[in-house]
Amino acid sequence: MIKACAFDAYGTIYDVHSVTEKCDQVWPGKGAQISQIWRLKQLQYSWQRSLMGNYQNFWELTKFGLKYALEMLKLPHDDKILDEVLDKYYHLDPYSDVTEALETFAPRELVIMSNGSPDMLDKVISNNGHYKYFTRFISVDELKVFKPKPDVYALTEKYLNVKKEEILFVSCNGWDAAGAKNYGFTTGWINRNDEPIEKLGNEPDFIVKSLIELAQKVKGL
Ligand code: LAC
Repeated sequence: MIKACAFDAYGTIYDVHSVTEKCDQVWPGKGAQISQIWRLKQLQYSWQRSLMGNYQNFWELTKFGLKYALEMLKLPHDDKILDEVLDKYYHLDPYSDVTEALETFAPRELVIMSNGSPDMLDKVISNNGHYKYFTRFISVDELKVFKPKPDVYALTEKYLNVKKEEILFVSCNGWDAAGAKNYGFTTGWINRNDEPIEKLGNEPDFIVKSLIELAQKVKGL
Protein backbone atom coordinates (compact mmCIF):
# COMPACT_ATOMS: atom_id res chain seq x y z
CA MET A 1 0.00 0.00 0.00
CA ILE A 2 1.27 3.47 -0.85
CA LYS A 3 0.46 5.79 2.04
CA ALA A 4 2.58 8.83 1.20
CA CYS A 5 4.50 10.28 -1.75
CA ALA A 6 7.78 12.20 -1.66
CA PHE A 7 8.69 14.22 -4.73
CA ASP A 8 12.04 15.42 -5.91
CA ALA A 9 11.70 19.12 -6.80
CA TYR A 10 14.10 20.20 -9.53
CA GLY A 11 13.45 18.39 -12.77
CA THR A 12 10.50 16.48 -11.34
CA ILE A 13 7.99 19.17 -10.31
CA TYR A 14 9.88 22.20 -11.65
CA ASP A 15 11.49 22.33 -15.06
CA VAL A 16 15.13 23.35 -14.53
CA HIS A 17 15.46 24.01 -18.24
CA SER A 18 12.83 26.74 -18.07
CA VAL A 19 15.87 28.99 -17.46
CA THR A 20 16.67 28.64 -21.18
CA GLU A 21 14.54 31.59 -22.33
CA LYS A 22 16.03 33.95 -19.77
CA CYS A 23 19.56 32.81 -20.72
CA ASP A 24 18.75 33.31 -24.40
CA GLN A 25 17.64 36.88 -23.71
CA VAL A 26 20.99 37.66 -22.08
CA TRP A 27 23.26 35.48 -24.26
CA PRO A 28 21.36 35.04 -27.55
CA GLY A 29 21.44 31.52 -29.02
CA LYS A 30 23.28 30.06 -26.02
CA GLY A 31 20.37 29.34 -23.67
CA ALA A 32 20.04 25.59 -24.21
CA GLN A 33 23.77 24.99 -23.95
CA ILE A 34 24.08 27.09 -20.80
CA SER A 35 21.14 25.29 -19.21
CA GLN A 36 22.59 21.82 -19.91
CA ILE A 37 26.04 22.63 -18.50
CA TRP A 38 24.52 24.57 -15.60
CA ARG A 39 22.39 21.64 -14.43
CA LEU A 40 25.20 19.13 -14.92
CA LYS A 41 27.65 21.16 -12.84
CA GLN A 42 25.06 21.90 -10.15
CA LEU A 43 24.54 18.15 -9.65
CA GLN A 44 28.22 17.25 -9.96
CA TYR A 45 29.10 19.81 -7.30
CA SER A 46 26.49 18.31 -4.96
CA TRP A 47 28.04 14.83 -5.28
CA GLN A 48 31.63 16.07 -5.19
CA ARG A 49 31.08 18.25 -2.13
CA SER A 50 29.29 15.38 -0.38
CA LEU A 51 32.30 13.16 -1.01
CA MET A 52 34.70 15.89 0.10
CA GLY A 53 32.67 16.41 3.28
CA ASN A 54 32.62 20.09 2.40
CA TYR A 55 28.94 21.03 2.21
CA GLN A 56 27.76 24.19 0.55
CA ASN A 57 24.05 24.81 0.17
CA PHE A 58 22.27 24.13 -3.12
CA TRP A 59 21.67 27.79 -3.85
CA GLU A 60 25.42 28.41 -3.80
CA LEU A 61 26.05 25.32 -5.94
CA THR A 62 23.43 26.54 -8.38
CA LYS A 63 25.19 29.90 -8.61
CA PHE A 64 28.58 28.30 -9.15
CA GLY A 65 27.11 25.87 -11.70
CA LEU A 66 25.92 28.86 -13.73
CA LYS A 67 29.23 30.63 -13.32
CA TYR A 68 31.09 27.54 -14.55
CA ALA A 69 28.80 27.23 -17.59
CA LEU A 70 29.38 30.88 -18.55
CA GLU A 71 33.14 30.59 -18.12
CA MET A 72 33.21 27.39 -20.12
CA LEU A 73 31.30 29.01 -22.98
CA LYS A 74 33.37 32.19 -22.59
CA LEU A 75 30.28 34.36 -22.14
CA PRO A 76 30.56 37.78 -20.45
CA HIS A 77 28.88 38.18 -17.07
CA ASP A 78 29.02 40.09 -13.81
CA ASP A 79 27.39 39.67 -10.39
CA LYS A 80 24.38 41.76 -11.37
CA ILE A 81 23.57 39.62 -14.41
CA LEU A 82 24.20 36.41 -12.45
CA ASP A 83 21.66 37.49 -9.84
CA GLU A 84 19.16 38.45 -12.53
CA VAL A 85 19.41 35.05 -14.24
CA LEU A 86 19.48 33.13 -10.94
CA ASP A 87 16.23 34.80 -9.97
CA LYS A 88 14.51 32.54 -12.51
CA TYR A 89 15.27 29.65 -10.14
CA TYR A 90 12.70 31.16 -7.77
CA HIS A 91 10.16 31.16 -10.61
CA LEU A 92 10.87 27.92 -12.47
CA ASP A 93 7.96 26.69 -14.56
CA PRO A 94 6.23 23.57 -13.27
CA TYR A 95 5.61 20.74 -15.73
CA SER A 96 2.20 21.06 -17.36
CA ASP A 97 0.70 17.99 -15.66
CA VAL A 98 1.79 18.87 -12.10
CA THR A 99 -1.56 20.17 -10.82
CA GLU A 100 -3.63 17.31 -12.21
CA ALA A 101 -1.08 14.76 -11.04
CA LEU A 102 -0.83 16.12 -7.48
CA GLU A 103 -4.61 16.17 -7.20
CA THR A 104 -4.65 12.53 -8.32
CA PHE A 105 -1.89 11.45 -5.88
CA ALA A 106 -3.91 13.03 -3.03
CA PRO A 107 -5.45 12.42 -0.52
CA ARG A 108 -2.23 10.69 0.47
CA GLU A 109 0.29 12.84 2.30
CA LEU A 110 2.53 14.55 -0.27
CA VAL A 111 5.90 16.12 0.52
CA ILE A 112 8.82 17.54 -1.41
CA MET A 113 12.22 16.00 -0.66
CA SER A 114 14.95 18.00 -2.30
CA ASN A 115 18.57 18.99 -2.41
CA GLY A 116 17.30 22.56 -2.58
CA SER A 117 18.10 24.89 0.30
CA PRO A 118 15.05 25.90 2.36
CA ASP A 119 14.90 29.45 1.06
CA MET A 120 14.98 28.51 -2.63
CA LEU A 121 12.39 25.76 -2.11
CA ASP A 122 10.11 28.08 -0.19
CA LYS A 123 10.24 30.64 -3.00
CA VAL A 124 9.66 28.27 -5.93
CA ILE A 125 6.81 26.45 -4.14
CA SER A 126 5.15 29.64 -3.05
CA ASN A 127 5.62 31.48 -6.38
CA ASN A 128 3.90 28.55 -8.09
CA GLY A 129 1.06 28.44 -5.53
CA HIS A 130 1.90 24.82 -4.65
CA TYR A 131 1.89 24.99 -0.85
CA LYS A 132 -1.67 23.70 -0.78
CA TYR A 133 -0.58 20.31 -2.18
CA PHE A 134 2.28 19.55 0.19
CA THR A 135 2.26 19.05 3.95
CA ARG A 136 5.94 19.99 4.12
CA PHE A 137 9.15 20.27 2.21
CA ILE A 138 12.17 18.39 3.45
CA SER A 139 15.55 19.85 2.57
CA VAL A 140 18.87 18.02 2.72
CA ASP A 141 20.21 21.22 4.27
CA GLU A 142 19.20 19.79 7.64
CA LEU A 143 21.85 17.07 7.19
CA LYS A 144 24.42 19.07 5.21
CA VAL A 145 24.86 16.31 2.65
CA PHE A 146 23.16 15.65 -0.68
CA LYS A 147 21.17 12.86 -2.31
CA PRO A 148 21.70 9.96 -2.91
CA LYS A 149 23.17 9.54 0.62
CA PRO A 150 20.85 7.10 2.44
CA ASP A 151 20.58 9.45 5.46
CA VAL A 152 18.62 11.86 3.31
CA TYR A 153 15.97 9.28 2.43
CA ALA A 154 15.94 8.20 6.09
CA LEU A 155 15.09 11.78 7.04
CA THR A 156 12.10 11.61 4.69
CA GLU A 157 10.94 8.39 6.32
CA LYS A 158 11.28 9.98 9.76
CA TYR A 159 9.05 12.91 8.80
CA LEU A 160 6.46 10.80 7.00
CA ASN A 161 6.37 8.26 9.79
CA VAL A 162 5.14 5.37 7.62
CA LYS A 163 6.99 2.23 6.56
CA LYS A 164 9.66 2.71 3.87
CA GLU A 165 7.95 0.56 1.29
CA GLU A 166 4.71 2.50 1.81
CA ILE A 167 6.44 5.65 0.63
CA LEU A 168 6.43 6.27 -3.11
CA PHE A 169 9.50 8.31 -3.98
CA VAL A 170 9.06 10.15 -7.26
CA SER A 171 11.93 11.54 -9.29
CA CYS A 172 12.81 12.28 -12.88
CA ASN A 173 16.47 11.76 -12.00
CA GLY A 174 17.34 8.11 -12.57
CA TRP A 175 20.19 8.28 -10.01
CA ASP A 176 17.81 9.74 -7.40
CA ALA A 177 15.22 7.00 -8.00
CA ALA A 178 18.09 4.48 -7.63
CA GLY A 179 19.15 6.13 -4.36
CA ALA A 180 15.61 5.96 -3.01
CA LYS A 181 15.20 2.34 -4.06
CA ASN A 182 18.56 1.51 -2.49
CA TYR A 183 17.20 2.91 0.77
CA GLY A 184 14.04 0.80 0.50
CA PHE A 185 11.36 3.13 -0.84
CA THR A 186 8.92 2.18 -3.55
CA THR A 187 10.05 4.30 -6.49
CA GLY A 188 8.58 5.96 -9.54
CA TRP A 189 10.94 7.22 -12.21
CA ILE A 190 9.54 9.87 -14.53
CA ASN A 191 11.51 9.10 -17.66
CA ARG A 192 10.43 12.07 -19.75
CA ASN A 193 13.33 11.89 -22.17
CA ASP A 194 13.39 8.18 -22.93
CA GLU A 195 16.73 7.61 -21.18
CA PRO A 196 18.21 4.21 -20.28
CA ILE A 197 17.90 2.93 -16.72
CA GLU A 198 20.87 3.92 -14.53
CA LYS A 199 23.25 1.03 -13.89
CA LEU A 200 23.26 1.45 -10.12
CA GLY A 201 22.20 -1.98 -8.94
CA ASN A 202 18.43 -1.68 -8.85
CA GLU A 203 15.45 -0.71 -10.99
CA PRO A 204 12.53 1.61 -10.26
CA ASP A 205 9.19 -0.01 -9.38
CA PHE A 206 7.39 2.20 -11.88
CA ILE A 207 8.80 3.71 -15.04
CA VAL A 208 6.53 6.27 -16.67
CA LYS A 209 6.72 9.17 -19.09
CA SER A 210 4.85 11.71 -16.98
CA LEU A 211 3.71 12.52 -13.46
CA ILE A 212 0.08 12.06 -14.39
CA GLU A 213 0.80 8.60 -15.80
CA LEU A 214 2.34 7.61 -12.46
CA ALA A 215 -0.53 9.13 -10.48
CA GLN A 216 -3.04 7.08 -12.52
CA LYS A 217 -0.95 3.94 -12.16
CA VAL A 218 -0.78 4.04 -8.36
CA LYS A 219 -4.40 5.10 -7.86
CA GLY A 220 -5.97 2.59 -5.49
CA LEU A 221 -2.61 0.95 -4.62
C1 LAC B 1 16.46 17.96 -6.15
C2 LAC B 1 17.43 17.84 -7.30
C3 LAC B 1 18.15 16.56 -7.29
O1 LAC B 1 15.44 18.66 -6.23
O2 LAC B 1 16.81 17.95 -8.51
O3 LAC B 1 16.74 17.36 -5.11
